Amino acid sequence: MTVTAANAIEPREPKYYLVKRHLLELIESLEPGALVPTERELTATLVTSRTTVRQALGELVGEGRLVRRQGSGTYVAEPKMTWPLQMTSFTEQAAANGFIAGARLLSSERMRATGEAATRLRLLPGAYMYRIERLRLADDTPMAVETSHLSVARFPGLIKALRKSSSLYRVLDATYGVVPLTAEETIETRAAPPREAALLGTDTGAPMLVLGRHSFEADGTPIEWVRSWYRGDRYTFVARLTTTG
Ligand code: GLP
Repeated sequence: MTVTAANAIEPREPKYYLVKRHLLELIESLEPGALVPTERELTATLVTSRTTVRQALGELVGEGRLVRRQGSGTYVAEPKMTWPLQMTSFTEQAAANGFIAGARLLSSERMRATGEAATRLRLLPGAYMYRIERLRLADDTPMAVETSHLSVARFPGLIKALRKSSSLYRVLDATYGVVPLTAEETIETRAAPPREAALLGTDTGAPMLVLGRHSFEADGTPIEWVRSWYRGDRYTFVARLTTTG
C-alpha cells in the first residue's frame, strides 16, 4: 500500500508540546546555566494554562535539558556526559573520561541463589551467591547504583576484599585470577525508585537508564550479573559498532 499525504496519519500535537517546542528553541539560544522564565511568566507570555507549562517544563527536566534548583528557579542544563560502553570496569571507564572512580559499599549479603541471578550465574539450587550493592562515584559525584551478583563458592572472601578496594574487577584479577573477557550489556528505561533517586540526588519517578551486564570468562563461564542505575538526564551511553570479518 502506498501512503499518500491524504491517508498518512497526522498526529495531533498536544497543547503542551507547542510550549515544549517553544522552550526548546529558547534553550538552544541560551548558554548552559542560564535562567529560564518562571512558570508564571511563561503562562502569561504564551497565554496558556499553568498545567500545560508545567508539563512541558517537567518533560524537559526529565530529558536533562533543564534543571530545577529548589527555591531558585529553572536553568538550562549542562550538556550530558558521554560514557562509552566497553568491556572494562567502572574504574577504568571513569579514568578514560578524566575522573577518579570511587565506590561506597551500601549493602552486602550472602544468600541462596534464586531466580534470574541463579540462572545467569549457572548456580545449582541451594548454592550461595553474593548480592553486593555499591554507589559508584566519579570525582565524588554519585553516578550509579550498582548491584552485583557473584558466586560465593568461586569467590570466597569477596566482600572482605571489596572493603579494601573500590574496584571489583581489580579484586577479581588480583585475588582470584579472573578477568571478564566478554559480556552482554542491556539498557532499558525505568522510573527511579525512592532509594535510587535519593542516592543519586534526583526525584522518585525520574527517568533512569538501567544497564545490565552479564560477563564471562574466556571459556564462557559466567562471572557476574550486575544491574546499574544511572540518571537518565545526565548520561549518553556510546557503543562503537564495527562490521565483523
Ligand atoms: C561496570 C560494569 C559492572 C562491573 C563494574 C566493575 O560498572 N557495568 O558490571 O561490575 O564496571 O567496575 P569496578 O572494577 O570499578 O568495580
